[in-house]
Amino acid sequence: MAKEEFTDAIMLLKHDHRTVEDLFSKFQKAQDKNKQWELAQQICNELKIHSMIEEEIFYPETKDAVEEDLYLESYVEHDGAKVLINDIMANGPEDEFFEAKVTVLCEEISHHVEEEEKPKEGYFAQVRESDIDLKEMRDRLMARKEELLALAESEGLPPAKMKAVQV
Ligand SMILES: [Fe+2]
Ligand SMILES: [Fe+2]
Repeated sequence: MAKEEFTDAIMLLKHDHRTVEDLFSKFQKAQDKNKQWELAQQICNELKIHSMIEEEIFYPETKDAVEEDLYLESYVEHDGAKVLINDIMANGPEDEFFEAKVTVLCEEISHHVEEEEKPKEGYFAQVRESDIDLKEMRDRLMARKEELLALAESEGLPPAKMKAVQV
C-alpha cells in the first residue's frame, strides 16, 4: 500500500470504504459457511482498523470543520457497528443469527458511509471546505493503519472499544 496511491486522507478513507463494500458483496454471494466466516472476519478487522484511525486521528482533527451533530453522530454510528462486530467475532458462524448480523452490519455501514461521502453536506465534503492539511494527515493515517494491520496479523485485534455508547 504505497502512499502515492492516495492523494490525501479522504481518498485513503474512501478507499477503505470501497474495500469493505467489496467484502460485503462477496459475503452476500458466498455459498458455504467457511467462506462466509473468513469474509466476516476480514470485514470485522477492516472495520475495526478503519474506525480506529478515524476516531484516533481523522475525527478529532476535523471536529471544528464539521457540524457538531454530524460529528457526534459519527461516533454513535461507529459504536452501533462495533456492537455487531464484537458479537459476530465472539459468536462465530454457528450462531443462528450470524448471517442476519452481517447483513444488518452491512446496512448500518452503508448508511454511515453515505453520511461521510454525501456530496456537499457529508462529513468529507465539509472537511474539504477547511484548510486542514489532508496530505500530511494521510501519512499518519497510513502509518497507524499499517501498525494495526501488523497487529491483526500477529496476535489479532482486541474487541472494538466503545467511545460514546455504554454497553
Ligand atoms: Fe469512514
Ligand atoms: Fe466513520
